[in-house]
Amino acid sequence: MGQTRLFLTAPRADAEAIFKLLDARFDDQGLPISIFETDEERGLFEVSLYAEDDVETVATQVRETLAALGTAPALTLEPVPEIDWVSHSLAGLTPVRVGRFLVHGSHDRQLRRPGDIAIEIEAGLAFGTGHHGTTAGCLQAIARVLQSEAPRLALDLGAGSAVLAIAIARAARIPVLATDIDPVAVDVAKQNVRLNEVESLIDAHTATGFHHRVFSEWRPFDLIVANILARPLMGLAPGMARHLAPGGSLILSGILERQRRSVIAAYNGQGFRHIRTDAREGWVTIHMKR
Ligand SMILES: C[S@@+](CC[C@H](N)C(=O)[O-])C[C@H]1O[C@@H](n2cnc3c(N)ncnc32)[C@H](O)[C@@H]1O
Repeated sequence: MGQTRLFLTAPRADAEAIFKLLDARFDDQGLPISIFETDEERGLFEVSLYAEDDVETVATQVRETLAALGTAPALTLEPVPEIDWVSHSLAGLTPVRVGRFLVHGSHDRQLRRPGDIAIEIEAGLAFGTGHHGTTAGCLQAIARVLQSEAPRLALDLGAGSAVLAIAIARAARIPVLATDIDPVAVDVAKQNVRLNEVESLIDAHTATGFHHRVFSEWRPFDLIVANILARPLMGLAPGMARHLAPGGSLILSGILERQRRSVIAAYNGQGFRHIRTDAREGWVTIHMKR
């Protein structure tokens, strides 16, 4: 079932008060909530709540919660478009080299060089062959973070083929939780994990955002990588703050250059500071820390 976004627009102070109320009200249900600026000139902010089941009940609960404020802006409901990740997946199988990482198909094994961290991925149903600017941007950011940090536990949220989880597991030899909303992607991820012989390090599960008990069993993570899209990433900001250890690194991608400011603002609001942004093919990869 798809997600629905329930949102309202208000000036900054009202939006912040609404965000706080909703965050406290829906904390138990773990529904993602985000706040970000939509109109800089007029100082308008949008507060969004993402629900999957019982959307009408959630909408009623939101309206009841907002009644405490006296007057509240109108609530709008809109379905979150289903992204056809399969058509985003690239069929070409030219190997991709990013730093020490070499992502390749089975017929390109001979290209491995000593010292390479080789990741074998067949371009299958799940997004993530290393060719896309967002995946390559994440690989580059992972390589840089691992030069100066020694994470003990990592999360790849929206793992697709699990290329990033495999990169982390192979480079850092640490346990990695790989999750994806799409069960087909999770099956492909599991196959790739076996193919790359990192079954002892990677655990893959189907989960939407942080909705799975496995997260509370694993958290806090020292490194989280999420290559999804700007809007869901903004919705996931409070969950990221709850699951990343203080001092931990967060790598976000799937963000267009023009969306960069809004994403950073949503994460600043959750106690993250911006470390660095890298651009590739019109997409940006953002490194933040808590
Ligand atoms: C752009 S692909 C990234 C795949 C891989 N991590 C990479 O970097 O190549 C995004 C993946 O996120 C998954 N996804 C989208 N929204 C999600 C959500 N709310 N929770 C978990 N996974 C999600 C999609 O199914 C898709 O496999």
